[in-house]
Amino acid sequence: MPALPHLVPRPASMTVTGPGGWHLTPTTPLRLEPGLEPVAELLRELLDQPLPRATADTPGALTLRTEPALAPEAYRIEVTPAGATVTAAGPGGHRIAAQTLRQLLDEGRPDGRGGVSVPCVDIADAPRFGWRGLLIDVARHFFPIEFLHKLVDLAALHRLNVLHLHLTDDQGWRMEIEKYPRLTEVGAWRAETLVGRYTFQDDPDAVFDGTPHGGYYTKAELRALVAHAASRGITVVPEIDLPGHMRAAIAAYPELGNDLEPARPVCTTWGITEQILNVEESTLQFCRDVLTEVLEVFPGPYVHLGGDEVPKREWRQSPRVQQRMRELGLPSESALAAWFTRQLAEFLTARGRRPIGWDELLEDGLPAGTTLMSWRDEEGGAQAARLGHDVVMTPHQLLYFTVYQADPDRVEQPLAVAEVLTTADVYAYRPVPPGLPPNAAAHILGAQGCLWTELMPTARQVEYMAFPRLCALAEVLWGTAGDYPEFAFRLTKHLRRLTRLNVTPGPLPPTRPAVATGPGRPCPCQGSVGQQISCVG
Ligand code: ACM
Repeated sequence: MPALPHLVPRPASMTVTGPGGWHLTPTTPLRLEPGLEPVAELLRELLDQPLPRATADTPGALTLRTEPALAPEAYRIEVTPAGATVTAAGPGGHRIAAQTLRQLLDEGRPDGRGGVSVPCVDIADAPRFGWRGLLIDVARHFFPIEFLHKLVDLAALHRLNVLHLHLTDDQGWRMEIEKYPRLTEVGAWRAETLVGRYTFQDDPDAVFDGTPHGGYYTKAELRALVAHAASRGITVVPEIDLPGHMRAAIAAYPELGNDLEPARPVCTTWGITEQILNVEESTLQFCRDVLTEVLEVFPGPYVHLGGDEVPKREWRQSPRVQQRMRELGLPSESALAAWFTRQLAEFLTARGRRPIGWDELLEDGLPAGTTLMSWRDEEGGAQAARLGHDVVMTPHQLLYFTVYQADPDRVEQPLAVAEVLTTADVYAYRPVPPGLPPNAAAHILGAQGCLWTELMPTARQVEYMAFPRLCALAEVLWGTAGDYPEFAFRLTKHLRRLTRLNVTPGPLPPTRPAVATGPGRPCPCQGSVGQQISCVG
């Protein structure tokens, strides 16, 4: 019997059913049930075959069937020499199945005449988690829209279903907002960029590259990205980070700031800046206006309001903010931050959308109906889940793909945050913290890998930092992560697929025990979350 195909993520159930194969050729017909036409287009593209529509029951066809009893992202694929049948509840499941079929095709033998023989398999598959995400920070570095399309394709290949776009930050505003043109005329551009890693603000020894950097996406470009993502079963979640991380907006419209010092330009260094929004009604109206345009472009259920890293010094020092706090009867600047977010969360909820924000929001009481993204650790997420909030896990220790993928003293890599997070570490991660009671665990929607791009100036480097860690996370989120060496073996084949897709992945940790791992001790590759891998290959 042939070996199991090397699919990533591994399907929940897969059996090889025979030695032969199904022959897919440029004349193989496609039989469809009504409503599945958009999936046909995706299949033609992914399988790179014309797949003419069959008018009758043709032998050897690819058949798409509907089975409403299946879960929305579940699917079955049955390949026999007589044809291939894909069954799903609707386009959602069929889109995911198309990605699995595409990987199966890579396992097939080309016949030299444009066709390929695909192994006989039965696959019955469904994901463990409903939020299988990837964050890309387009504020710290701007990337061409074409790259975001490629990132969507790569996420879909790994059966992920969320692309979180971090659209605004101190270093750049990246979304066209028609009502406030200066956000992109001024806020999308910085004079230069810090060279090297993080330095504190105004460090006199900081070195800059002297090169202006910036760019933004038009609403038309973002709408096209959303449509492209939807055609692959991916929802785009936009983030407008408020009320901190707003220096680019304040540089464009100084009246949004606290007017304590001359307005500063768009930030050229990394880290947390002190400049935050003021709490005037006019500023809240600005935020509502921006969100109104965001809602026009992004139809998905979730809108991210940020809420992380809000230094309160300006609010403490501003007589006007202190007066407003008294008017509102709020006891502290933290309560004011919570109030600010609540105004905007209610704005979104009233329009049928779901607010989501970073875990600092928990500190003063998360607005009702707000989903929490737990980044400082997993505890915030666990606490929110116990309180009945939905949670997406993004603990930076395990899911920020900003640090080295291997020991930089042993493997040469581009400059990264000075810690190590290997693919094996990510593979060992599980989104539901141990000990969480089942009613709270049910609120853990899933997790996402985060590509913060301070030290990733090019698209190539983003890909290098994302892969292969994202492959590991995809399998964790699909719910089939198991034995690391078995995954690593499959992954080696999968990485060839990525290379063919013009992706240059970073280094993989070796799978053999290290010299330091004595006889009888487990290989650390299969060890616990967060463990440093010290194996030699
Ligand atoms: C974050 O990393 N400040 C969400």
